[in-house]
Order: sequence, then structure tokens, then C-alpha cells
Amino acid sequence: MKEIRLGICGLGTVGGGVLDLIKSNADRLYDQVGAPIKVVKIGSRSKKPLFHDEEILFYQDVLLLADDPDIDIVLELIGGVDIAQELVRKAIINGKHVITANKALIASHGAELFSLAQKHSVSLRFEAAVAGSIPIVKVLRESLSSNKISCVAGIINGTTNYILSEMAVSDRSFSDILSEAQELGFAEADPTFDIEGIDAGHKLVILASLAFGIPLSLDELCVEGMSQISIADLKSANELGYRIKHLALARLVDERIELSVHLALISETHLISRVDGVGNAIFIQGDPSGETLLCGPGAGAGPTASSVVSDVIDLARNLIQEQADQVKYLGFSTTAIKPRGLLTQDEIVAPWYLRIEAEDSSKSISSITDILTKRDISKQTIVSRAIDTSSKKIEIVIITNPSSAKALFDAVEEISRLQSIFGAITKIRIEDLPSCT
Ligand code: HSE
Repeated sequence: MKEIRLGICGLGTVGGGVLDLIKSNADRLYDQVGAPIKVVKIGSRSKKPLFHDEEILFYQDVLLLADDPDIDIVLELIGGVDIAQELVRKAIINGKHVITANKALIASHGAELFSLAQKHSVSLRFEAAVAGSIPIVKVLRESLSSNKISCVAGIINGTTNYILSEMAVSDRSFSDILSEAQELGFAEADPTFDIEGIDAGHKLVILASLAFGIPLSLDELCVEGMSQISIADLKSANELGYRIKHLALARLVDERIELSVHLALISETHLISRVDGVGNAIFIQGDPSGETLLCGPGAGAGPTASSVVSDVIDLARNLIQEQADQVKYLGFSTTAIKPRGLLTQDEIVAPWYLRIEAEDSSKSISSITDILTKRDISKQTIVSRAIDTSSKKIEIVIITNPSSAKALFDAVEEISRLQSIFGAITKIRIEDLPSCT
């Protein structure tokens, strides 16, 4: 009987998880595919396997696996762009199917790689590139393919959600919690990709392409990091009935698309607010499906391996039947993928949360409200309280009515120049996501 032979490139958290899953669930994989799935070669530049298996050959040069005649499917699990891109291109040109977990690669070079894969009649699958174990690629590309999608929003970076959730319930520092997320295998090799929103941006570009049929492109994506967040903000937001999440959002606004990764206050009653730790959650609004929410672990060895290996099973089923992959890379046929206008950051209209530390004087509050009023920014809520009676410092928290980002940013800039203000002003959008209950 035919067996499906895999070459795993990369033996870090994800590669190790994939190898473990294929070994530990070999019987189930066999039953799903109707043939054995075997890892025959492993390529890793830095790590040697900790086990000895005479059936698996080990190479330090990962590129050797791209033209190895013993391999049917190359698993690109090395991450980063340069070598990964070279490996994937070479494997495709050599007629190998490729599965990758690499969001940066797909977001920045997906168009070229899909076209190359089409030319060479091979599959290029990437379920694990977005949201760990959540099968969001399959859901957008297949399960909800009949819908007109108007919004895809959610938490798509496990590391930052882990940091925000831990900060909200403990007094541990940001850097302490980030180190823990790195030890747990959640964070990127360079964790600034997580905390500056770059990783979520890569994933959002992929989701937007699947949802709206727009080309994969990182241009005009608005990305805001989350490292400026303080425990004081998390506490104030909680007291006002919100949670702070690092949100990725792709939505239709008058036939244009808003693509943004930003910190957001979300009502504590929304299900997304309850997704903590390394959890990811993706909310999809479709017509006629209505609102759908998918949740699950967004990072780590097992959850990511789950998605990689489900791609292996899909492709293996096709290979056993000697059938070509019927699923389009991004769901849409190539000619249907077209650019749409994107909204700029300044055009966003939303309610805002502001937290300002100021001198304890009635003039502080009146100067701030004058600046807001001058720009037609009205207040829904304003709360002030003493932070430190000895230094006469107060904290002023304001929730505005919906106002344009441009007006709000200009107002914050002017407020920050007031003599009575201390330190940076926190400004966070309030996102009124449709409920999914
Ligand atoms: N660093 C990523 C995260 C890994 O934390 O979500 C999974 O893509």
C-alpha cells in the first residue's frame, strides 16, 4: 500500500509538536487517511532530534529536503521569511506539496507562492498560520464560502492575550509575563513581532484575503502595539464594564475595508472578552450565516501541530485517491481576487477611552474638557480620582461618544501639552462588536 512520506523542516516548538503528534496519533491518522503517514526526513539547522529512529534521516541543511525524491509533502516549520521562502519555492518547483505554519511568509509572499504552486500543480496549505488550533482558514475558505462576510475580528495572538490576561489578575510585570510566554513556546523568536502587533498583522492580512477576496498585502495595514498598556488601564477598564484586548479587525465599511490591529475596550458581556490566556477567538459576521465565534488555544506546540497535521491528512487523502487538491488557495478563483479601497486610521469613527494623569485642580479637568469640546468630542462618562494624595495627582478617565480618530488624536496631542498633565495619555478605541449570542 502507498504510504505518505513527510519531510519536516524545523524542529522548534511547532516541528517538535508535529513530530510528537504524528507518532502518538499514528493509528488515528492511518484510520483517517487509509494509509500510513510517515516522517522520513527531518531538516533542522540548529536542533538534533532527541530520539533515535532508524527510519528517520536527519539533515542540517533543510534545503536538501526540497528536492528529495523520498518526500511527498514538505512541512515548512522553520519560521522567518528568507530560508523558508527559498525552501518553499524550491519544494514547489520540484513538484512537492507544501504545508506551512508561517504567517509572515504567506502574508508577504503568498501571492507569488500560490501562483508558483498552481503552475506546478501542487498544494500549498497553511491552516496553522492563523490562530493555532482554530480551523479558521478552513471555515472561511470552505464552511462559510457561500456568505458575504462583513466582519472578521478577534484575538489572533496568543502571547499578547496571555500578557493582558495575566496583568489583569496579578501584579506581575509585563516583561516577567512575556518571559513566561517565551518559555511556554507561545512567543515568536523575536517577541517584538507579538507585542508590536506585527504577527497579528500578518495573520489579519491572511484572514482579510480569505474573507473579502483581496490580495495578500501588508500595505496600508494599521498596526498598533500593546506594550504601552498599564495595570491602571486594565483596572479602570474593568471598573467601567470593559476588558482590554489586542484586537485584529477586518470589516467592510461602505464597500471599503478597515484593516487594523489595535488595543480595544470590549464590553465585558461580549464572549470575546472572556477569552483569556493563550486563547484566541475569531468572530465572523456573514450574510446569511449571522454571527459565528470560534475559540481555542492560539499558540503552542500541540494546538499548532493539530492544524499542521489536519492539513497533512487533507493532502494525504487526495494523494491516496490520486486526486488534485480541489480547494483554492484563498478560496476565491485567482481572477476574482481584486484590491478594494482601505480605510486610513484617520477615518475611523469610534468611542474612545482616555486615561490622563493630571494635577489635582478643577482647572485640569476644565482645560481637558474645553479641548475636547472645541473638536466636537462629547463625553459619555468622566471619572476622576486621587492617585497619590501627597503629590496631589489625579487620574481622569473619559469615555467619549463616537468621534473621528483624527479629531481625537489632535485633541490628545493638545491635552498632552498642558502644564497640568503628567506622563503619556492612554487612548484606546472602544469596539462595539455585534453580539454572537
Ligand atoms: N507568537 C504567536 C502567538 C504564535 O503568540 O500567537 C502562534 O502564531
